[in-house]
Amino acid sequence: MTGAAQSQSSPNAAFNPRVFSGIQPSGGLTLGNYLGAIRRFVDMQESGVQTIYCVVDLHAITVWQEPEALRRQTRELTAGYLAAGLDPEKSILFNQSQVAEHAQLAWIFNCVVRMGWMKRMTQFKDKAGKNAENASLGLFGYPALMAADILLYHATHVPVGEDQKQHLELTRDTAAKFNHDYGVDFFPLTEPVIEGTATRVMSLRDGTKKMSKSDPSDASRINMTDDADTIARKIRKAKTDPDALPSEPGGLEGRAEARNLVNIYAALSDSTIEEVLRDAGGKQFSEFKPMLADLAVTRLAPISEEMGRLMQHPDEIDRVLGRGAERARALAAPILARTYDIVGMVRST
Ligand code: AMP
Ligand code: TRP
Repeated sequence: MTGAAQSQSSPNAAFNPRVFSGIQPSGGLTLGNYLGAIRRFVDMQESGVQTIYCVVDLHAITVWQEPEALRRQTRELTAGYLAAGLDPEKSILFNQSQVAEHAQLAWIFNCVVRMGWMKRMTQFKDKAGKNAENASLGLFGYPALMAADILLYHATHVPVGEDQKQHLELTRDTAAKFNHDYGVDFFPLTEPVIEGTATRVMSLRDGTKKMSKSDPSDASRINMTDDADTIARKIRKAKTDPDALPSEPGGLEGRAEARNLVNIYAALSDSTIEEVLRDAGGKQFSEFKPMLADLAVTRLAPISEEMGRLMQHPDEIDRVLGRGAERARALAAPILARTYDIVGMVRST
């Protein structure tokens, strides 16, 4: 986190640093979620600021989810948070739908944001595809709910992968427009935190596409629940080019798949691309892939085992979420009440 959050010249000087982030329970967790998001969540938890991590189930239903699958994925994502090192005593962990204030603030923001802003969102264009008329209204309004998630806690920092940058710009625009329209300095201008070697983990089948839980090909991603054999097989079959690895990062130019595997190796081994290439430069993929597979299995197996163990006790997971929701509500309710006052809603005291 930058010192800017505390400096006097920052627009957020009046706000205590507070971290919020969320992941959709719309499928299993991928290596992209882990390296781009969850691992960073754990780092921030350990940095001593207040951290709030949400399972954004209201966002997930902007595209169709089978109810039973949604319930299972919500618990599985929570198990992933816990297994990766999030501690419900240190961080607030909860699912969005249990804190009604998210939907309430989202409605206010629906009346602040403009249609034109939403139409420019690349995630909407990607997810709606060719038939945008047939997308849900929720999918169109998705970024207003996301702004509400963040601003409901006056969060100053949001760790995310690269693909969320545009949504975070919209969150700042929403805060700025609200503050301007109502002549207040109420919402902070939240900073995205997009750092590290793995802010954009790519598909194993196509180095130009993001690794995603919604890709129809399971071979394109590593799931956090994959066993050791599956991980090794997917890495062995990952698309590459016929050349050996270069010894300098410049040699990865124009080699999207090679760059992706080196990035993943660097992120999993907590080293830089330069360090990886110093050791692996000159190696063929036939030699590098088994090294990567071993590293991935060593790093991911303990997490997937712990997820499996936690999934045997869904009631414990639900208790963590319920307790987290209570703590989240205690922070959110006063901020929503003040928002209502600013907007001019009458409330009886
Ligand atoms: P989602 O699965 O779309 O809810 O994303 C949850 C979080 O994981 C967000 O912070 C994303 O930016 C991050 N994320 C998802 N896929 C990737 C990826 N392939 N590489 C890096 N970060 C990712
Ligand atoms: N839109 C994010 C994604 O797809 C998920 C999300 C919802 C989120 N609300 C958030 C991320 C608030 C950070 C903060 O990845």
